[in-house]
Amino acid sequence: MSHENVIVCAGLDGLSRRAAAEFVFLARQSMLESGRFAVALSGGSTPRGLYSLLSTPEFRDQVPWRKAHLFWGDERCVLPDHPESNYGMVRNALLSRVSIPEKNIHRMKGEGNPEGSALEYEQSLREFFRLSDGELPRFDLILLGLGPDGHTASLFPGAQVLQEKSRLVAAVYVEKMKSHRLTLTLPVLNHGANIFFLVAGKEKAPVLRDVLQGKSQPEPLPAQCVQPARGRLVWLVEESAAALLVNRAGS
Ligand code: 6PG
Repeated sequence: MSHENVIVCAGLDGLSRRAAAEFVFLARQSMLESGRFAVALSGGSTPRGLYSLLSTPEFRDQVPWRKAHLFWGDERCVLPDHPESNYGMVRNALLSRVSIPEKNIHRMKGEGNPEGSALEYEQSLREFFRLSDGELPRFDLILLGLGPDGHTASLFPGAQVLQEKSRLVAAVYVEKMKSHRLTLTLPVLNHGANIFFLVAGKEKAPVLRDVLQGKSQPEPLPAQCVQPARGRLVWLVEESAAALLVNRAGS
């Protein structure tokens, strides 16, 4: 993995601020280029600071929310107001504080039958991106996190979904979490125009070193499978998570 796309940030706040600046830049650039901004949001805890920052006057007034369309990279199969819901986390941190039209919020229906919700979300992607058969959606920005086991979105080590080549959205059962999830598939992630991993915390240092600088082992480390064909891949890394990287770039 080349190093020029690894940006080390000072603290979680530094990571969130850099991510917010990149989000605003890409939102405005996409708006100018295509008249809209389509972003797939990450769940988990790391991006919460980013979403909160985007809701502050410093950032929210720079985003063309009326032309921004928010999707999710994955979702837990729970009700939208459940503490585990990725949608619920974004609604509390961001959506309840900015004026974005409800029709621009494209949540995965975690509360439904997993396979049915996956098919429904896939159809919503086809409609929004006006996809012909076999065509992939091209998100302007995809935000991703990194789990300590090397998973990203809900693409977990050794999962069958890692082999998926045609479906856009999959329903997966995560044995170790005893939970069903919905996730964008690797073809969709790898078709994104800009993919930003946000990684923070010293507990992520070993897996980040393995993913970025270890040998290629895509099955045990699904995050290594994120290699956009025609897109920009950036790792925004909080300094304690970057502690085991060698020759790392500064922020
Ligand atoms: C989720 C995310 C998942 C997350 C990683 C990192 O639904 O939980 O999609 O892939 O990004 O598990 O989570 P943290 O940011 O909480 O460490």
